[in-house]
Amino acid sequence: MERPDNLIIVIFGATGDLTYRKLVPALYSLNTQKLMPEKFALLGVGRSELTSADFRKKIEESIVTHSKEIGYNITYMPDFTAQAEYFKIDYASGSDFKKLRSVIEALCKNNCLKGNLIFYLATPPSLYEEITTPLSQSGLEVPSDGFRRFIFEKPFGYDLESSRKLNNTLHELIQEDQIFRMDHYLGKESVQNLLVTRFANGIFEPLWNRNYIHRIEITSAESLGVEERGGYYESSGALRDMVQNHLLQITGLTAMEPPSSLEADAIRNEVLKVFQSLERIKEEDVESRVIRGQYTASRIRGEDVQGYRNEKGVDINSKTETYVAMKFFINNWRWSGVPFYIRTGKRMPTRVTEVVIHFKQSPHHLFEREPGTLAGNQLIIRIQPDEGILLKFDMKEPGSGFNIKNVNMDFHYTDLADIKIPSAYERLLYDVMSGDQTLFSRDDEVETAWKFIEPIQRAWKNNPSIKVYGYPAGTWGPEPSNSLIEGEGLTWRYPCKNLADEEIYCEL
Ligand code: BG6
Repeated sequence: MERPDNLIIVIFGATGDLTYRKLVPALYSLNTQKLMPEKFALLGVGRSELTSADFRKKIEESIVTHSKEIGYNITYMPDFTAQAEYFKIDYASGSDFKKLRSVIEALCKNNCLKGNLIFYLATPPSLYEEITTPLSQSGLEVPSDGFRRFIFEKPFGYDLESSRKLNNTLHELIQEDQIFRMDHYLGKESVQNLLVTRFANGIFEPLWNRNYIHRIEITSAESLGVEERGGYYESSGALRDMVQNHLLQITGLTAMEPPSSLEADAIRNEVLKVFQSLERIKEEDVESRVIRGQYTASRIRGEDVQGYRNEKGVDINSKTETYVAMKFFINNWRWSGVPFYIRTGKRMPTRVTEVVIHFKQSPHHLFEREPGTLAGNQLIIRIQPDEGILLKFDMKEPGSGFNIKNVNMDFHYTDLADIKIPSAYERLLYDVMSGDQTLFSRDDEVETAWKFIEPIQRAWKNNPSIKVYGYPAGTWGPEPSNSLIEGEGLTWRYPCKNLADEEIYCEL
């Protein structure tokens, strides 16, 4: 991998959680691997009153706190933090943007040979236009043969209308090839490995369709609650926060046709086609096909855990969902009639993201099975943690007769190489610096995903009587989500931290 050209990264919303938890540790890790440009500067921009020295100190703390967990080397830290500056801004002030431009120009003299600039908007979407307008207009006296790239954090808009409006506005200011819409799930190694599993192996692809697959289940569970983000989460909820982006992108990669090449647009075109084929759930069916829930107070591992409504920044009567489960179909030749079940929730028993392909049962049952055990193979693609793949199939138990046992064959990603799996932000920030848009959502993809979500948002808005079910923190969500899965004896898989284990109550 080559070092990108010299540049400046300007982060808006720099004092937020994202900068310290994800962006700074990712940039730092790239720096230790010599994958940052030879010369770069990091300019934090935010509303808080901070000096550059304060900002550097916070960066240092964030590297120590968040890098240790993943084993980064922290010996180069002074070199890295020395590149950081801070600028306090009032986003509504034209003169502040003028001053910001001179700060960028001054930094540019040392760092960006051609005027290469990356603007990371880690702010709420309501500020995207306000920030992009002054930056995209002329006025920066830096060499202009470099690039200007804009990264927009998710959610990209709040609904179909706002995302369309945002796209239109941005297109008046900048080109689509300057826009990097962040969905960090696409930066996860194991999400990209979905493509390799499907398209590098001849054995899976012939089975990957309605003839052999009974249903597909995608789970993204988190054990944490909303933590310090209650304010943001109140206006988001799990549908906007996880389903519209992360879970639909995983659905897209699981269900897409083989792309003609690995070019960004070849892959994005196929994901778009999946989104275009998603059957929109009718408003009147939302109540039965989409279950929403909210975690309530409970005790987890001997500790009292408060309910969502008692979290900081949350309305005591809030109806915001912290859990969503739904059933939908993809109306195309490959997937006609195959139900897709997806679910996501905060304060679940464990943190796990995985795709489960349930194959159809063999057409003729020769062997008796224990009552309550179901035939049928499953392929489990584990996105996190314990990344890997597991195939479940039946074997004969030793001894007389034909007693059948369902067994596991598993591969763990860590067995592949003794290297650290790069964090999603690391990969994506490197791609932005290198100008590769493959792992970023395109305008039409984002809008089409919102189009699928829209009737659900509308139904919830127009029918407040649609229940928000409570579920005790630390459990697998509200009971009614079990009835989404049709078929006698069929349930969700209850994954544990370790790929091969499966139980309602996992070992901690
Ligand atoms: C973010 C959501 O996009 O993804 C968070 O805003 C969520 O609410 C997070 O916790 C989950 O990401 P990961 O990588 O920890 O699965």
